[in-house]
Amino acid sequence: MIALITGSSSGIGLETSVYLARRGYTVWATMRNLEKAVELRKIIESERLPIELAQLDVCNDSSVKVAITQIVQKSGRIDVLVNNAGYGLRGASEEVSLDEWKAQFETNFFGAIRVTQAVLPQMRAQRSGAIVNISSVLGRMAIPFSGPYIASKFALEGLTETLRYELAPWNIKVVLIEPGFIATNFQQNAQLAQAAQSQDSPYALFKQASGRRVQRNIYRAAPPERVAETIYRAITHPHPKLRYAVGRDARLALPLRRFLPEGLFERILKKQLGL
Ligand SMILES: NC(=O)c1ccc[n+]([C@@H]2O[C@H](COP(=O)([O-])OP(=O)(O)OC[C@H]3O[C@@H](n4cnc5c(N)ncnc54)[C@H](OP(=O)(O)O)[C@@H]3O)[C@@H](O)[C@H]2O)c1
Repeated sequence: MIALITGSSSGIGLETSVYLARRGYTVWATMRNLEKAVELRKIIESERLPIELAQLDVCNDSSVKVAITQIVQKSGRIDVLVNNAGYGLRGASEEVSLDEWKAQFETNFFGAIRVTQAVLPQMRAQRSGAIVNISSVLGRMAIPFSGPYIASKFALEGLTETLRYELAPWNIKVVLIEPGFIATNFQQNAQLAQAAQSQDSPYALFKQASGRRVQRNIYRAAPPERVAETIYRAITHPHPKLRYAVGRDARLALPLRRFLPEGLFERILKKQLGL
């Protein structure tokens, strides 16, 4: 079985590459900058894992095309695609420039479409495959000061639901993984919108309160291996569900979001956020 994972230089992508390779998958661990493969190379060498590295920037058409062509030529098929590459962008929605909004969507949303479109002709020819889109608990509920990230993940959720119907005739499974806080460098790698960096931001006080909440929850983050396990469970299931929540926070928040009346959920969340 051949798996292709985007954003494998760190965090969930790295962990999933190793997890699937240890269970017999031949993994194409892709990343936009192969110089960041130092940690992964060490694991591959020490465990002699079946992992191939390839350069793939999800924002770049030709990079995606070259990588997929290389994978199909060398491995002959693609059984699993994990659309994992992504980053966070913080700032009040008013303060995030349109260019920053667009860049966020270019990676988190259009990046997933770009790679999916490149992989689908192969999966349709095989009449089988699995596409795993890494969304977030924030793909189904909002908090303040992460508007572009949240909107990009809501969009990814809509796309995934659509693909499930469209690809069923070819026996291609499509699933969403919805992690809560996961212990990776995601928070450190998240960008802060330029205008939000000013001390004069009208949102400064609210952002401090919300930032303190993020710090509290990082402490309770689940290990990235939990996400990798869940991906494995989904891709090996004959009839995977649409959504898989990962982490205690996600498994608590998402059912509350679904079953509580919206007004009540909003009041509870505002209280939690100190708003
Ligand atoms: N950690 C969490 O709490 C959490 C929770 C919910 C969902 N998620 C989602 O999980 C996914 C992985 O995040 P993570 O936690 O593993 O964070 P991470 O350690 O920061 O990993 C993000 C990965 O995405 C890659 N990436 C960013 N832009 C890219 C591009 N244009 N092309 C290819 N790769 C690109 C990064 O590559 P570089 O090293 O080159 O930057 C890195 O490998 C993201 O989609 C994120 O939204 C994370």
